[in-house]
This record gives sequence, structure tokens and C-alpha cells, in this order.
Amino acid sequence: MRTLLMIKPDAVEKKVVGKIISMVEERGFDIRDMRMKRFTRDEAEKFYEVHRGKPFFEELVQFITSGPVVGLCLEGEDIVNKVRNFIGATDPSKADPCTVRALYGTDISRNAVHASDSPENAERELKFFFENC
Ligand code: CMP
Repeated sequence: MRTLLMIKPDAVEKKVVGKIISMVEERGFDIRDMRMKRFTRDEAEKFYEVHRGKPFFEELVQFITSGPVVGLCLEGEDIVNKVRNFIGATDPSKADPCTVRALYGTDISRNAVHASDSPENAERELKFFFENC
């Protein structure tokens, strides 16, 4: 099973990409592929399609296109759930201590990372970064 972990523009700007990748390695996750890119508006709207119409959608699209992001393809048994536990709650102030969002997130919008919430979404989201992951 595979999942997408995406390091968001706020974490790139804070220069904590290396620290987050170190956490991934220390946790023992297998990195299968990795790529930095910048989303176009069209891609961002498609990536976050499920949130279209929500009050935060416009802000979300603007933020995610505001700078480069880093996508990691992680592979392993039950990897979707494991990575979601590893990053912590969406709102960094509610995330468990020592999770990525607790350590590096600022607020619910600038929360450092995103991870796929199901195996189906993982396959869909990985395609935005990798052709053959
Ligand atoms: P992410 O895991 O990338 O998925 C959707 C993102 O929307 C989420 O993390 C948050 O950064 C962002 N967001 C902004 N406001 C909210 C909100 N009120 N509820 C949920 N997500 C929000």
C-alpha cells in the first residue's frame, strides 16, 4: 500500500523540509519517490476537489499555490493510517505532541503537511506528483 505525504509551502518557507524528511526516516517509513513542484491553480482545485464549496476552499487553493510543495510516495502495510497518525490532527493546536503538525504547523491553514485519507485518495493524489510511483 502507498500514500502521499505532501510538505506544504509554509514548511518549505520555514526551511524544515529536511527535518520532516528526517522524521519520516526515523519513524521507519519507506520513501519510494520524492519530488518538489509548484501547483497551478487548476491542479490545486482538482487536488482539493472534495473541499470545493467549503468556506476555506479559496484560501486553501491560494495558499497551496503560493510556493513549492514536496511530495513523498511512502509505502508499507497500513501506511495511510500510520502516516495520518504520524502527522497529527489538522489543527496543529490539537495535534498530539511530537507529530509533524504539532512541531511545525502554524494554524489550521498553514499546517505544514497533508497526507491522503484513504488508499483510493492516495492513488488519485500520487498522480499529481508521480507518473509511475
Ligand atoms: P489538508 O490535510 O491539506 O486537507 C485540507 C486542508 O484544508 C487542511 O489540511 C487544512 O490545512 C485546510 N483547512 C483550512 N481551514 C480548514 C477548516 N476549517 N477545516 C478543515 N480544513 C481546513
